[in-house]
Order: sequence, then C-alpha cells, then structure tokens
Amino acid sequence: MRFKYEKTAVVTGAALGIGREICLALAAEGWKLGIVDINMEAAEETRELVERAGGVGEIFRCDVADPEQVAACADHFFATWGKVGLLVNNAGVMVAGCIEDVSVEDWRRIVDINLLGVVYGCRAFVPGMKKQGGGHIVNVASMAGVTALFEQAPYNTTKAAVIGLSETLRAELSPGNIRVTVACPLCLNTHLMETACINSDFISEFYCNTFAQARMSAPDIARCILKAVEKNRFYEMPQPFAKVLWLNKRLTPEQFVNMFYWLNRWSLGKPFVMWLARHGMV
Ligand SMILES: NC(=O)c1ccc[n+]([C@@H]2O[C@H](COP(=O)([O-])OP(=O)(O)OC[C@H]3O[C@@H](n4cnc5c(N)ncnc54)[C@H](O)[C@@H]3O)[C@@H](O)[C@H]2O)c1
Repeated sequence: MRFKYEKTAVVTGAALGIGREICLALAAEGWKLGIVDINMEAAEETRELVERAGGVGEIFRCDVADPEQVAACADHFFATWGKVGLLVNNAGVMVAGCIEDVSVEDWRRIVDINLLGVVYGCRAFVPGMKKQGGGHIVNVASMAGVTALFEQAPYNTTKAAVIGLSETLRAELSPGNIRVTVACPLCLNTHLMETACINSDFISEFYCNTFAQARMSAPDIARCILKAVEKNRFYEMPQPFAKVLWLNKRLTPEQFVNMFYWLNRWSLGKPFVMWLARHGMV
C-alpha cells in the first residue's frame, strides 16, 4: 500500500475481527503495529500472527472508554516510535433493543466505547500527528449509522455520531495534513455478537442470519479500508449492498427513512427483512 506517512499504526480493538485483519494486512508490508485491546489473550494471538506475517507488533492494554488510558497509549507509542502514521479507531460493541427495554447503564456503556472511545482516540493522537507533520485516522463506524434499522437505537446512534464526528474532523484536521476516513461496513462474521447485549428477538435472529450469510469476510473489509486510506477516500462502504443503501439514502432521504417506517408497521415487514438476511442480502 502506498502511504505518505510513517509506516506505524495503532489499531484499537486489534485482538479480534476487523482490527486484527487490518494489523495482518499491514504486517505483510512490514509495518509496526500497536495492538490495542482489553482482551489480552486474543491480543497475544494477533501479535504472534503479526510477527509471522512479517510485521512488528506491540500490545498495549487499553480500555478505549477510559480517556486516561487512551492518552497513556498515545504517549507510549509516540515515545517508542517517534511517529504514528495511522490511527484506526476500531474497538466497538453492540447494544440493541427497543428504546424502553435498553437500560441506561447499557446506553452509557455503548456511548462510552463506540462514540467517546473514538473521541478520546482522536484527542490523544491528533497533537502528535500535527507535530510530526501529518497522519491518517480511520474511524470504524457502520452502515447501521446510515440505515437506522429499528430495535437497535443504541448501536445506530453511536455509529451515526461517529460518522458526524469524522465528517467534521475531515475538514478540521486538513490544515495539519491529517486525513480522515470513515468506514461503514454492513454485517460480517466476527466476534461482535459474543459480547453483544441484545434485548430484541428480532435483532438477535437478524444477526444470526446475516452473520451466517455474510459474503465479505473481515480480511476483505480490512483490504477495502486500507484501499480507502491509500486513495485518501473519506467514505468507505465496503459491500456492494452498502453502496446501494448509501446511494438511496442520499438520493431519497425521506423515502429511505419511511421505507423502514412502513416495514415495521406492516405485519410482513419483519419476515421480509429476515428473508433478506437469510439470503445474504443485507
Ligand atoms: N461485525 C460487523 O458486522 C460490523 C459491521 C459494521 C461495523 N462493525 C464495527 O467494526 C468494529 C470492529 O468490530 P468487529 O466486528 O471486528 O468485532 P469483534 O468483537 O470481533 O472485535 C472487536 C474488538 O474490540 C475490542 N474491544 C471491545 N471493547 C473494547 C474496549 N472498551 N477497549 C478496547 N478494546 C475493546 C474487543 O476485545 C475485540 O477485540 C466495531 O466498531 C464494530 O462496531 C462491525
């Protein structure tokens, strides 16, 4: 991958899933990787895979929901490497359910990790990137932030907020030569459901089906994200159906939102969404 900054990357949520695959793709090109996570056992596996792939991996235990730990993480990698070329704010969790069924604690947890975790990452790394003359930040959001599927407001809300934050930073950080990309994948099979807190039978079944049928894997998504970095693209919607949804939302926003309104009012709406999920169409 052509990259104009230092080939050093800090990836949060790098122990598993998309984060691990981003590390492995970069390791194959000899990058130095900061493997940031709270799951130390899986992080160690990522580190071994990184070394085997030809990169250099260093684990840093950090809960992205804690601003002090994230600041310490940034200090550590700038002190060790001198420069951090790429930051991937990828760590995330899933919380879903109808608005009256999700507890305030679960709302706080997902906002702390999925939204504030990204804010803390940007706050901690931007000063060092400005000082070194530039860098690239990838924020991993989701198509959930665009499509607003019913019964998963917590997840959708945090991901929509990450898109808004990234849109702002794309312009705000440009004078410092810091590029920003926001990635919005649709469903893919990772470990996300293992730590999910889902209070809706519909959403549980939906993810069971979509994860089983997903056509793109975590390595595919990682490749798409790194291509977007190389090309300095802002929006990365990796799957073809994600691109279709994104185009529809931009061309006909009112109709797009009302499509979900009618799907949920109509008694065959949920079975129809589930049918799409079972056939790998979402
Ligand atoms: N899997 C999907 O269908 C999908 C679709 C779109 C977007 N995403 C997003 O992609 C990102 C990566 O998810 P994934 O699917 O690879 O899931 P995953 O569960 O396989 O990986 C998530 C990683 O984040 C780590 N993590 C969780 N909370 C953390 C915290 N507080 N501090 C540090 N690390 C933490 C986990 O330990 C894990 O290693 C998430 O932001 C997720 O919302 C996933």
